[in-house]
Amino acid sequence: DLYRPSRANSRGLEFGHRATLAALTRGIAAATLPAAPAEPLVDARPLGGLERKVVSPIDGHTVAGTAFDAAPDAADSAIEAAACGFASWSRTPAAERARLLDRIAGLYEDNRDRLMALLAVEAGKTLADGLAEVREAVDFCRYYAAEARRLFTVDRLMPGPTGEDNRWRHRGRGVFVCISPWNFPLAIFTGQVVAALAAGNTVVAKPAEQTPLIAALAVRLMHEAGIPANAVNLVPGDGTVGAHLVAHRQVAGVAFTGSTKTAWRINRALAAKDGPIVPLIAETGGINAMIVDATALPEQVSDDVITSAFRSAGQRCSALRLLFLQDEVADRMIEMIAGAARELKLGDPRDPATDIGPVIDAEARDRLAAHVARMQREQEVLFAGSLPGGVLAGGTWMAPHIVALRSAEELTEEIFGPILHVVRWKSGELDRVIRSIAATGYGLTLGVHSRIDAVHRQVADALAIGNIYVNRNMIGAVVGTQPFGGSGLSGTGPKAGGPDYLTRFAQEQVISVNT
Ligand code: NAD
Ligand code: ALA
Repeated sequence: DLYRPSRANSRGLEFGHRATLAALTRGIAAATLPAAPAEPLVDARPLGGLERKVVSPIDGHTVAGTAFDAAPDAADSAIEAAACGFASWSRTPAAERARLLDRIAGLYEDNRDRLMALLAVEAGKTLADGLAEVREAVDFCRYYAAEARRLFTVDRLMPGPTGEDNRWRHRGRGVFVCISPWNFPLAIFTGQVVAALAAGNTVVAKPAEQTPLIAALAVRLMHEAGIPANAVNLVPGDGTVGAHLVAHRQVAGVAFTGSTKTAWRINRALAAKDGPIVPLIAETGGINAMIVDATALPEQVSDDVITSAFRSAGQRCSALRLLFLQDEVADRMIEMIAGAARELKLGDPRDPATDIGPVIDAEARDRLAAHVARMQREQEVLFAGSLPGGVLAGGTWMAPHIVALRSAEELTEEIFGPILHVVRWKSGELDRVIRSIAATGYGLTLGVHSRIDAVHRQVADALAIGNIYVNRNMIGAVVGTQPFGGSGLSGTGPKAGGPDYLTRFAQEQVISVNT
């Protein structure tokens, strides 16, 4: 059955239409930067904190804005404000909460160019990625609004004996702490917050330390849309303040997206607390593979590998890390992929000609460079792209690389950047390939390129992977179409942008009345 709540996904732009593109780039250039500061916003009041400049990864000197990182007492105040706001927000009818989410979506669309300017300057997002991200954030708002109407507006009458009225309903849990990563600083930040709100919770949101400005703009737009001041509170800062929030005794739930290591830490911190047992929704990383067999269409494979491994500078949880090429086609495929990679243009993400922007910061660049150096020593680097020069030289750049691994087991951790690892397999070895993928312990995304249907089915049945993409690229997930999230080391579920997401943010209640 087609599952389709009544709403539409946000509309894209035709970049090939010259006037449309010109209007977009003008709008982005006109967006005022530096942006408004990112401060702890508690009950919509700025609390101040430890001041620092947020410097753009594009050139290493443009100041995107100022952040004031929250001290522990500001974080506590945020939780207390959210706890105060819960009584009123949780009793706000779900239809009204949904209406406000729709208003946030509208305000995001109205502020698209401002949001895209920040996505480019603070997070290094290209125009295509920035637009996709604003659209995804808008879609999360409208999808969860529709879901809240479907799930939370009526109490369900349960079957029962005569003389008894049994009603089942969902209600908010309390204060949700939402902790998000820098790689989708608007879409994931927004998705977590509006899901928690839709289910009747109040929120303390802690964005990644690399991208506080976009989060602050998002929270201001949420308040402008009519979300009560104390229903969404912002706590900028690094993992230390995140850990402080998680440990607070008044927290009723945690929604986390980021690395598996941090999810472990949060899980342990929650387990060590006395008091109520606090649910954790964790969406984490992956060592994502693509299996290509000899029946695949070479041109399509090449195109999809380039998109999956290198778009967004490989900084997507869904990105392709481990490409399994069947021996018969491997040499030709590698030549085509390397040829296409050579054409990728690294540059200022606001330039429409740019394919790949910078990586997020110097720490990420240095980690990736160390990995490449190890690959040069221990494996075989087949292709290395070149870096931009001139004014961009001060930015944090990583060129696309293709590395031949002796075996899949050589890759033991998620490498979060534009580095593709290739492994060959021989006809008759599909089971071994499947075992290698299962052995990573991750289960986020998988690509399959094969014109044999039985291969897709065999792989999908054998591997507990959350999102499998067949004969196409394997990044991205359209809200309401491809509910997204993994299993094992990749997360707890439920899937973001899917029909089971909101209920995990809510508490069930049954009222049985003797009539
Ligand atoms: P990260 O784990 O370093 O940080 C994520 C967030 O956790 C940040 O806000 C950080 O400040 C906070 N944090 C760090 N330590 C903490 C602690 N002890 N307690 C509480 N909060 C803490 O991840 P990142 O580098 O920001 O993001 C990249 C990672 O996110 C990659 O592994 C990527 O695969 C993953 N990711 C997953 C998904 C998904 O949907 N599965 C989507 C995007 C990104
Ligand atoms: N938003 C996730 C990505 O595009 C699904 O990688």
